Amino acid sequence: QTHPHPDVERVLLDEQQIRDRLAELGERITADYADEPPILVGVLKGAVMVMADLARQVDLKVEMDWMAVSSYGSGTKSSGVVRILKDLSADITDRNVLIVEDIIDSGLTLKWLLSNLRSRGPRNVEIATLLRKPDAARVEIDVKYVGFEIPNEFVIGYGLDYAENYRNLPYVGVLERSIYED
Ligand code: PRP
Ligand code: MN
Ligand code: MG
Repeated sequence: QTHPHPDVERVLLDEQQIRDRLAELGERITADYADEPPILVGVLKGAVMVMADLARQVDLKVEMDWMAVSSYGSGTKSSGVVRILKDLSADITDRNVLIVEDIIDSGLTLKWLLSNLRSRGPRNVEIATLLRKPDAARVEIDVKYVGFEIPNEFVIGYGLDYAENYRNLPYVGVLERSIYED
């Protein structure tokens, strides 16, 4: 995949940029959690690539677990209605939980997820996200690890989809407008 996909208007973050930034975040996480390693909670499906690559940059005995929630449906906007499609298999009582996300857009998914996970009696819950969009500032959530602040454009690739496609692109790109407008 040397040439960008034809539906990609431009590449926002290439493989090297993503790899380098995740290595930095992984180093910070390794230092911050040296005393009590976290359980990484990847949010399916978008976070699969971030989870796989970030976890390998964390030099600790971490557990990896998954939750599947969905808020976008097949459109381009978050509805705020979050559904649990798959719950954690682990009990997170008294655990350090680190949520791993691909993107925080409106922030509604994480706002909901944070209160859901906090109700289970964890020791601590933090968030690591590869991308954050400007609208996320409107929701009051502290995000400890942010890879990149990005402009308010519809992005795909590296786990991020449009109507379930493009997740396998190895970079983050801006989706061509003509694909979702008519
Ligand atoms: C996307 C993305 C985040 C969330 C961010 O997931 O992966 O989880 O939306 O949007 P928000 O901050 O506006 O809530 P989506 O619901 O599309 O499910 P997916 O991960 O399976 O694609
Ligand atoms: Mn998601
Ligand atoms: Mg999606």
